[in-house]
Amino acid sequence: MRHALELAWRGWGRVSPNPLVGAVVLRGDETVAEGWHAEFGGPHAELAALHAAGEKARGATLVVSLEPCAHHGKTPPCTDAIRAAGVRRVVAAVRDPDAEARGGVEVLKRAGIETQIGPLTEEAAALNAPFLFTRQQTDRPFVALKLATSIDGRIADAGGRSQWISGPEARDHVHWLRAGFDAIAVGGTTALMDNPQLTARGLTPRKPPVRIVFDRRAMLNLGVSLVQTAREVPTWVMASPEAPISNVSVLEGNGVRVFRPETLAQAFAQLRLAGIQSLLCEGGGALGAKLLAEGLVDRLYWVQSPVWLGEGAVAAFAGIPASPLADAPRWVVVERRPLGSDTLLVLDRRLCLPES
Ligand SMILES: NC(=O)c1ccc[n+]([C@@H]2O[C@H](COP(=O)([O-])OP(=O)(O)OC[C@H]3O[C@@H](n4cnc5c(N)ncnc54)[C@H](OP(=O)(O)O)[C@@H]3O)[C@@H](O)[C@H]2O)c1
Repeated sequence: MRHALELAWRGWGRVSPNPLVGAVVLRGDETVAEGWHAEFGGPHAELAALHAAGEKARGATLVVSLEPCAHHGKTPPCTDAIRAAGVRRVVAAVRDPDAEARGGVEVLKRAGIETQIGPLTEEAAALNAPFLFTRQQTDRPFVALKLATSIDGRIADAGGRSQWISGPEARDHVHWLRAGFDAIAVGGTTALMDNPQLTARGLTPRKPPVRIVFDRRAMLNLGVSLVQTAREVPTWVMASPEAPISNVSVLEGNGVRVFRPETLAQAFAQLRLAGIQSLLCEGGGALGAKLLAEGLVDRLYWVQSPVWLGEGAVAAFAGIPASPLADAPRWVVVERRPLGSDTLLVLDRRLCLPES
């Protein structure tokens, strides 16, 4: 199953809004074939693995990181292919809660195939957190916050400089990360001060992530790279209803799509309606803290760098209300990974486990 989870990652950036799925065909202890969902609309992992196994699938065990689908979507039901291949036993890490695809385990059982949910259910749920989250909650996207901080929890020095707190390995990792999200967001101050491009480099996503700036007064100007390239890469601004019309017109005239929600919750609802299922917010501190305080962050990608910035530098998590220790929110550690001299810690507010 661990290998099936590793294979699933090969679809990163290519399969959204579908889940990441990997599969292995076993005969006894021997792996006879493997497969993964490589492209949206393309064969599912089970089909790829069964195809690679050929006749060896007969009587074998299929190990898959997500329950096989039981519906006709862009491809026929995986449960049909599993039956036709003569598989004896199916082990799936986690249930598929999707209203259309679910129920694969019951279909397989009725066909006399042995089934099992788990092991590695929690790891598989974390792997597909955006997919599982959006099947449970429909009013907003899955929101991840990425911050690079100093040892003392600062995101920029006292002069507002943050390039670069983290090293090249961490920055490469962020490019890879971006490719798997539907949208990348920053606060207006970050867009103005850092002038980021917010594109995914190194891995070509199936669709470039939409770039979003939370900028209530629509202050972005033509000197900012995001506005200059808005006709090449989709760029949206979340302004407020009070944003000056003249500012909004300049942005729209340069290919920026402007939304005017009244609240952050409304902004996220509008993004979900516009087709955004997962969003990676890359700061800065003000926007990140606001999202955290309003309970709108589902995952934190926290890059910790071995540098001290001291008093007066910009705090990463300012404004979070105090909690007595006994009631303090405790997040789930999903991953710890060294990136050069930095450390990536991935934390989820909660695991999105479907009912089994
Ligand atoms: N180390 C890192 O990972 C990292 C990452 C990014 C940025 N940075 C650094 O962080 C600094 C900037 O951070 P910052 O905290 O000053 O600013 P910021 O979070 O980038 O931007 C604050 C912006 O968010 C907007 N905003 C807040 N709430 C909003 C809402 N409900 N709806 C729409 N917009 C909303 C504000 O607009 P209004 O003013 O109109 O309220 C303001 O323009 C820079 O120095 C940058 O270099 C570091």
